[in-house]
Order: sequence, then structure tokens, then C-alpha cells
Amino acid sequence: MFNTKKAFFCWVVSLLCVTPVGAGFGQGKTVDDGVFTQSQVDAGKPVYDNSCKTCHDMRFYRDALKSWDGQPVLWMWEAILGTMPADNPGSLMLEEYTDVVAYILAENGFPVGEETLDPDSNMGDILIVSP
Ligand code: HEC
Repeated sequence: MFNTKKAFFCWVVSLLCVTPVGAGFGQGKTVDDGVFTQSQVDAGKPVYDNSCKTCHDMRFYRDALKSWDGQPVLWMWEAILGTMPADNPGSLMLEEYTDVVAYILAENGFPVGEETLDPDSNMGDILIVSP
């Protein structure tokens, strides 16, 4: 005979087990979790080539990302927005800064995914990890 109580128990257990730790709680998400899209990366490359490449090579960002380890992407985005390009800070559109950050993350080995990196929604909850 079908045991409803047991079935319910199994259902609860399976829910607990298939839910990845931290998912859905707005916590524990990092740049390693596919938090920007391929189209952001594609849009970021020309912006980067025009506005950033003259002063920094990708190695520079590797070290910069290391120094931001454990901090929200939003903070780095704001720092870049406020100070870069050094010869004309704040000269890009907000979206271009976001695309450039996505491009820099992709170039440093972080994966593209389904989620769109957005300073108004998720960026404050996504932590940078050392590449
Ligand atoms: C005219 C030269 C120049 C351009 C163009 C430029 N930067 Fe910079 N950038 C600097 C200098 C100078 C510093 C500070 C000194 C250093 O750390 O080397 C710096 C620092 C940084 C840092 C480290 C900030 C920190 O607090 O960790 C990042 C990240 C960065 N730049 C990103 C960018 C991005 C993205 C662009 C393009 C939008 C850009 N830079 C364009 C000269 C430039």
C-alpha cells in the first residue's frame, strides 16, 4: 500500500538535498556562478579595447581582482566608474562599465551564464573571488 507519510518525508528530504547550499538566499553567490551573459562580454570587448587597453593589460586585472577578493562586484564597479578611464573618469555609459566588468571577468576565466550582471539588482550580492 502507498504510504503517504513516507512519501511526504521523502519529498521533503529530496527538496533539501537537491537545493544547492546558499542558492536562492541571495548569499554565497560569486563571479564563478555564471552571473553575466555572453552578450555582455561581447559588448564589453570593444569598449575595453577603446577605453582601457592603452593603460592596462589583462594581467593587471588579475592582480586587481585578487585585491578585491571577497568583496561585492558592485564595489569594484563603482570604483571603476568613479576613477576610470583615468584620463576621463565616468565618461562611459553605466551599461558600458557593466559590460567591461563582464568582459574582464570572462577574460580572467570566469564563466558566462544565464544571469545578467546588473548594478541595480544583483551586483551587490555577487562576490569577487580571486581568479
Ligand atoms: C589613462 C590611463 C588609464 C586608462 C585609460 C584606464 N585606466 Fe584604470 N588605472 C589607471 C591608473 C593610473 C590606475 C591606478 C594605478 C594602478 O593601480 O596601476 C588604474 C587603476 C585601475 C583599477 C584598479 C582599481 C582598484 O581600486 O583596484 C582598475 C580595476 C582599473 N584601473 C580599471 C580600468 C578600466 C575598466 C578601464 C576602462 C574603462 C581603465 N581602467 C582605463 C590608468 C588608466
